[in-house]
Amino acid sequence: RNAEFLSEYVAQSMNFALPVREQAEGEAPEHAITLVLDSTINNEEGYRLSVTEKSIRIEGRTEQGIFYGIQTLRKSLPAVAESKSILLPAAVVNDEPRFTYRAMHLDVCRHFFPVEFVKKYIDLLALHNMNTFHWHLTDDQGWRIESKKYPKLNEIGSVRHRTVVGYLGSGEYDNTDYGGYYTQEQMKEVVAYAAERYINVLPEIDLPGHTLSVLASYPEFGCTGGPYEVCPDWGVFPDVLCIGNEQAMQFVEDILGELIEIFPSRYIHIGGDEAPRVRWKTCPKCQKRIADEGLKAGGGFTAEDRLQSYCMQRAERFLNARGRSIIGWDEILNGDVAPNATVMSWQGSAGGIKAAQMGHDVIMAPNTHCYFDFYQTADTKDEPLAIGGCLPVSKVYELEPTAGLTEEQAKHVLGAQANLWTEYIATTEHVEYMLLPRLAALAEVQWTAPDKKDYKKFEKRVVHLMEFYRRDGFNFGKHLYNLH
Ligand code: ACM
Ligand code: ZN
Repeated sequence: RNAEFLSEYVAQSMNFALPVREQAEGEAPEHAITLVLDSTINNEEGYRLSVTEKSIRIEGRTEQGIFYGIQTLRKSLPAVAESKSILLPAAVVNDEPRFTYRAMHLDVCRHFFPVEFVKKYIDLLALHNMNTFHWHLTDDQGWRIESKKYPKLNEIGSVRHRTVVGYLGSGEYDNTDYGGYYTQEQMKEVVAYAAERYINVLPEIDLPGHTLSVLASYPEFGCTGGPYEVCPDWGVFPDVLCIGNEQAMQFVEDILGELIEIFPSRYIHIGGDEAPRVRWKTCPKCQKRIADEGLKAGGGFTAEDRLQSYCMQRAERFLNARGRSIIGWDEILNGDVAPNATVMSWQGSAGGIKAAQMGHDVIMAPNTHCYFDFYQTADTKDEPLAIGGCLPVSKVYELEPTAGLTEEQAKHVLGAQANLWTEYIATTEHVEYMLLPRLAALAEVQWTAPDKKDYKKFEKRVVHLMEFYRRDGFNFGKHLYNLH
């Protein structure tokens, strides 16, 4: 399969297909590109790419490592070759990633994107040596997962009947149905497509906040009983799951049970961000749960903070018992952290630093460097409407995921990712525009050893990558060189 990929990549550049065949024992072919497993390479994802006068050889400890060697060779070719012959310098490249977790996220709730586009997105992750696709599948504005046990999530929760027009607070709504969800078969298809490219799909179910699509479908899972609406606005909303309601907790376990049948990922993301406590404070069921579980205020946290911890810990127990681990946004630090949780730091790096100091594994996705829904330039007058912020390519490149940690604590940093929230991103072309070329800067944060990072050199190399984006029909930001 790796060889077939390589043949396809060469065909994209050269317009002819290299034949693929298995190499006979002891054969040392000339005028060939040879892919070989080599157990002397230390890193699971490492590779060696050797170019001599006669042949090219890509060696990896694993097939995944070879795949990254193939990506390097692919990116060393012209995007569109002008003749049938190209020259590569004779060289040996020994390469390996800095981090084992290298992800990009996509929110398909605020706006929904078809499976065909999700596959193109995964292709882009592969081009940038990433190994994880974080799929944000549920939120206030739409539930995007087919559920066999809770069909109203699809009948009701996957469609909102109106969407705010323009910037949040405009007071104007389009009064048009907007929705969609992925069938279980489609999600399995995406998992398989990603796996062929050595990419794990990390699914996220956001709990216990960001659940208005659930409450609209099953109002009994909310503290007040509703009525609720699949959310037409962007933001953070007071109505969240009722943790005191055992049925709602059963729902959490049932949905996670369905999810792990679709997604083989060792990690399951259970959200945990932006869950206001206001309903829990006055809900008799939630207050009873607090009393029954002996949840107490203290240490800077309220009893209601600990109620959220109770929910996260129950989800963790359920998943741990089935061989899976949880990831949660950094708010899961507020209260009692689920003991085996990996923390995804988004409110800057502080949460990640705190978690690593506590001995938890960490993924850095700070909104200072990794929020690709932010503008790419300070000069926004010609930019499509964005949520705000300013995150140029250079700022992404600057992220140092282990800053502020000792060497020992830094071992808990599994890697980094960027997030693409789509409140203001309604089309695939706009997704591409926000993603590229910032994705290339993120890729170097994830892959490249700090002493080898060099922004000036990156700026030169990214131009070559942009030729690939252009060739493959992707829309991309041209702020770096004012390219058109
Ligand atoms: C987040 O941006 N609410 C994780
Ligand atoms: Zn409640």
